[in-house]
Amino acid sequence: MLGQINDKIKPRIAALKKQRADLSQIAEEIRDGRVLSATDLVSVDDLSLEDIGLIFELAKLFQLELPEHKKIPLLRGKSIINFFMEESTRTRVSFEMVGKHLSADTINVSASSSSMAKKGETLNDTARTLRSLRADLIILRHSQAGSPGMIAAEIEPPVINAGDGWHDHPTQGLLDVFTIEDYYGSIEGKTVLVVGDILHSRVAGALIRSVLKCGGKIRLSGPPTMIPKKVEAEFGVEVEYNLEKAIKDVEVVYALRVQLERAAGAFIPTIRDYSKLYCVNPVRLARAAPKAMVMHAGPINREVDLRTEVMEGPQSFVETQVANGWAIRAALLYLLTRRSS
Ligand code: CP
Repeated sequence: MLGQINDKIKPRIAALKKQRADLSQIAEEIRDGRVLSATDLVSVDDLSLEDIGLIFELAKLFQLELPEHKKIPLLRGKSIINFFMEESTRTRVSFEMVGKHLSADTINVSASSSSMAKKGETLNDTARTLRSLRADLIILRHSQAGSPGMIAAEIEPPVINAGDGWHDHPTQGLLDVFTIEDYYGSIEGKTVLVVGDILHSRVAGALIRSVLKCGGKIRLSGPPTMIPKKVEAEFGVEVEYNLEKAIKDVEVVYALRVQLERAAGAFIPTIRDYSKLYCVNPVRLARAAPKAMVMHAGPINREVDLRTEVMEGPQSFVETQVANGWAIRAALLYLLTRRSS
């Protein structure tokens, strides 16, 4: 998908720059009146392939051009609420930075700074309050699966799921596929090996949905206690518990964090036993395809999920994922606040 987008979009950007179009104009020209079929982003399942193509076109533009511009007025007059009821570094900071970069007014609300934690206001009532305050878009991270979907059904402003419990993290899934396509041109036919705590990981859920939707293949490896039963039949993925076998010839090695804050420690004997069998180290990586990508959504448990030599090595795309998250989130803020042509 992105290889074809690159062929189309790069000459178009160059031509528009020659005509001295500014970046807001270029974004509008690239969008060309198109809108997302989804009004919210609760899961990648909400998006069609055309939607994902449109998001990737805009993300490519922002990836190439936005860093050169201090600020552009694309979202001037829009109010975006970053509502983070659970900790976050990458997702929260990138949404906030990108909102400011596109000239939106961004307002941060956390569990401790809202009236929910100590005064008992419900999530639905809080969302209605934010709607009454004329929020144009609400970004929600919550420890309870289903929370973003519940408020999306309740209020009109678009809602982006920034991660809900064990369930989903659609902007992560999109930025991961974008990163893979940016490297290989297309994810079609490529095998993404997901290693580790699949059971507790919303990153795994988002990645599996996104990769399969865009034509890639998924292989899972990890302790049997951390891989849901019947996942092969239900999702159409492969499972191989032995990492030495699973990693053979794959194009992408995607390591997950053991989610100790979600009691994942009870699913393995010890962290040391886990890392002995599932930490991605240089010897294991050598069995993957030549120049295979190494990915991780972060935060990383060094020497448990990934060995430092691998995390900081030439095959690591961990920092590229963070940078691409910025471009994908810019595209989504722009598209979800443009509901008409
Ligand atoms: N990848 C991710 O969601 O990281 P944060 O928890 O830091 O946002």
